[in-house]
Amino acid sequence: MAQASQMHLLQMLIHSACTHSLMSWTDPVDGQLNGLQDFAYWQDIARTLERGCFDAAFFADSPAAHAVYQGSVDSCVRYGVSFPNHDPMPLVAVMAAATTKLGIGVTLSTTGTSPYLAMRRMSTLNYLSRGRVGWNIVTGFSRGEHMSNGTQGLFSHDERYDYADEFMSICYKLWDSVPPGAVKMDKQRGVFVEPSQVVPVNVDGKFLKCQAIGPVLPQASGRPILMQAGASGRGMQFAVSNADVIFAIQPHVSGMKKSTVAINAAAREAGITADPIVIYGVQPILGGTEAEAKARAKAMEERIPLDAILARLSGVIGHDLSTYNPDDALVDMDTQASHGLLAATASSDTGKAITLREAAQRWALTVTMPQLIGTPQQVADEMISIWRETGCAGFNLSPTTNPDSVHDFVDHVVPLLQQAGVFRREYAGSTLREHLTMEQAA
Ligand SMILES: Cc1cc2nc3c(=O)[nH]c(=O)nc-3n(C[C@H](O)[C@H](O)[C@H](O)COP(=O)(O)O)c2cc1C
Repeated sequence: MAQASQMHLLQMLIHSACTHSLMSWTDPVDGQLNGLQDFAYWQDIARTLERGCFDAAFFADSPAAHAVYQGSVDSCVRYGVSFPNHDPMPLVAVMAAATTKLGIGVTLSTTGTSPYLAMRRMSTLNYLSRGRVGWNIVTGFSRGEHMSNGTQGLFSHDERYDYADEFMSICYKLWDSVPPGAVKMDKQRGVFVEPSQVVPVNVDGKFLKCQAIGPVLPQASGRPILMQAGASGRGMQFAVSNADVIFAIQPHVSGMKKSTVAINAAAREAGITADPIVIYGVQPILGGTEAEAKARAKAMEERIPLDAILARLSGVIGHDLSTYNPDDALVDMDTQASHGLLAATASSDTGKAITLREAAQRWALTVTMPQLIGTPQQVADEMISIWRETGCAGFNLSPTTNPDSVHDFVDHVVPLLQQAGVFRREYAGSTLREHLTMEQAA
């Protein structure tokens, strides 16, 4: 399919001490620690992204600390790695309240909640924001998440997706249960919803039961946008069958090209004719000159202890990496955690196996996303080139320090993308669905 004429942009955030760049909270310019107790911090980010016409802010979420590295949470808590695990959901409301157009995607795991409660939370936020919410459905790859929730029995990789399939099938029924036409809100007749048009849900499945009616009024633009990042065979099958937007992380352009082809093929196999909206993670690091940007990246990398990186990588891969020699090649490991992130981490565009230390370098600032380091013009040019070469729909940007990463990108890179004619100058619609599907008139 021909690529759309405009790219899509999302901004990754995490309601924790840092986003992906470890130790960013120690940086003198970083404001995130104050932001953990300040609605205004998040509202400023939201308004800035809306000023920059972003499709959406996007909250990744890691709901529990990893206790895999050295068998303990010590390195995670010491360095503020995937800790604290503050709930991103309240920030969706806080940021939506400060804006009128910006979409807000948020991660909610199918582990540790029920379809009814998940659908209720996401749909309430979507209704309240007039159709601006996206739900990033994850299945809970982290052992810590299962230990915290008492769901250890669900830890096999593929079974988590079977569970998520059933989980989502109940959510779809709940969304259909109160059809838009049933909602009368007729003040004269005193009829709120026409009961004969309500379709109760009654599921007794392999994993889950639900007897209910959908608890939230249908939003005019439909259910929340669904986002997903499954990258293994089973994960991709789930993603193409459920998601409006597919996120992926690949360290190299060659990997992005292959992954786009694989996602499109998985969609065909699932009987879906349109190519999915595929969004790749990247991390811009800006400077007045290329040398300045490179020096900034190097300084940020140098302050990150290897233990901090391996604590996170161990949690994501599901292996205690303290038992490995960092200079050994990263070999194929069996994992029940994240197949896709392990494969991306170990991937090489030269054919030479990378060592654990090299993998750790990739993870230090970006969890293996490519860095785009340079002047605003260099970064804008590189984004356009990757966008064209891979045929992707756009990018999910990982900040280093915040809120300056967001401000700098919106003030210095967005205008260049707009001048190049590849990014909207104003929103064509008001809902997240419209941002993702409507093109701005030239
Ligand atoms: C851009 C992006 C964001 C992600 N955000 C989260 C997240 O917030 N929480 C989470 O548990 N997993 C997250 N993941 C990991 C995915 O849920 C998934 O485990 C991973 O992509 C590997 O796919 P697989 O399960 O098919 O192996 C993210 C992945 C990507 C590519």
